[in-house]
Amino acid sequence: MVPTLSTLTQIDQHCIWHPYTQMQNAFPPIPIVKGQGLYLYAEDGKSYIDGISSWWVNLHGHAHPYIIQKIVKQAEALEHVIFADFTHPPAIELAQRLLPILPGKMTKVFYSDNGSTAVEIALKMAIQYWKNRAKPHKIKIISFKNSYHGDTFGAMSAAGRNGFNRHFWQHLFAVETITPPTEGNEENTFAQLEAILNGEDVACFIFEPLLLGSGGMISYSAAALNHLLKRCREKEVLTIADEVMTGFGRTDTLFACDQLQETPDLICLSKGLTGGFLPLGVTACTKDIFEAFLGDSLQQAFLHGHSYTANPIACSTANGSLDLLLSASCFDQRKMIARKHAHFCANWQEHPHLKRCESVGTILILEFSTTETSYFHSMRDQLYQFFLSKGILLRPLGNVLYVMPPYCISEEELEYIYHNITLTLESNELF
Ligand SMILES: Cc1ncc(COP(=O)(O)O)c(C=O)c1O
Repeated sequence: MVPTLSTLTQIDQHCIWHPYTQMQNAFPPIPIVKGQGLYLYAEDGKSYIDGISSWWVNLHGHAHPYIIQKIVKQAEALEHVIFADFTHPPAIELAQRLLPILPGKMTKVFYSDNGSTAVEIALKMAIQYWKNRAKPHKIKIISFKNSYHGDTFGAMSAAGRNGFNRHFWQHLFAVETITPPTEGNEENTFAQLEAILNGEDVACFIFEPLLLGSGGMISYSAAALNHLLKRCREKEVLTIADEVMTGFGRTDTLFACDQLQETPDLICLSKGLTGGFLPLGVTACTKDIFEAFLGDSLQQAFLHGHSYTANPIACSTANGSLDLLLSASCFDQRKMIARKHAHFCANWQEHPHLKRCESVGTILILEFSTTETSYFHSMRDQLYQFFLSKGILLRPLGNVLYVMPPYCISEEELEYIYHNITLTLESNELF
């Protein structure tokens, strides 16, 4: 029997075009009317564990009262102000608090409003840096094959040509891609980098540190990344850490680059920055980069900005999220999640239906064995629907299932997710 759709769903289907969705055969969107802690509540009364922190943004659970209070207070004081020629306390406070905790020697933050723009800004800074430093021939960009840096043209270009940006290939600028240095492939990656570094024309290397997210949750070691950054530094190539996903405690450390000896020249942040309440992006850079833009001419300046740059409510929200993130209880929760994920993997990684089971900090990753090659294959849909039926939101990337919960999750709630994962492993219908 075909279920009747709620009024909200029907109206949605009349007027809304959803992201990353084939609207012709998409599952009807589920109207969510309330969020509280780990849970999303639907119009029909069902509840869902938000096992992916709503596209990796929600750090502390939904509707956290402390952050709500920060938003209300800031909205009453100042909701927005142009950020050229003006400034405001929440933006200043956030910059002052972020800079000392970021990896490397970051001295300035440049605000924007999402992960893609944080990446665009970093790329533009890197290209213009070499022009301003009178080395205009340094224009090449290196990135990892299978990486994801966002959906704007620069961010799409940075990922290299792939199935998702296929329709725009003619309009993307050229980048040199190297394969991620996964276990056993490190030397191969190093050789690819060396071949590109032989030319003197490379401006920057952009990378997702330790874990390529949307490209399939592909992990690689800090030691390998460290080597790549060292070689880039020696060859005068700027390095850009895209910590949009990995930032704010997702890997074992506060930032993934904290696990390196080498440090990046630029860092991109978004997603967890506001704890999932409001859009905000940050591109942080070193003193050397900032100073390359100083001069008498406006042409030397960084001519970039967005209407909502450094929105005061978003900055205030980020300050609230930082308060929670840096608390001892949040640290303990992150460690608890990491420990339990690791324990789960130790028990299940040899399962015949799994190609891979690993944990990276608070992220649990399972790659299911399948012969299907298409990204949107039936196993993905079956897994997605199975977990929804159990009241859990997990959204596999092809045959890769991952759990990236808000830090407020309890041990029992994690066990409930694990239990349902084991049911899929034992199921005869999926395999
Ligand atoms: C590593 C990385 N960079 C950039 C982005 C783009 O961020 P946004 O979706 O906020 O534009 C994403 C989004 O998933 C990401 O994972």
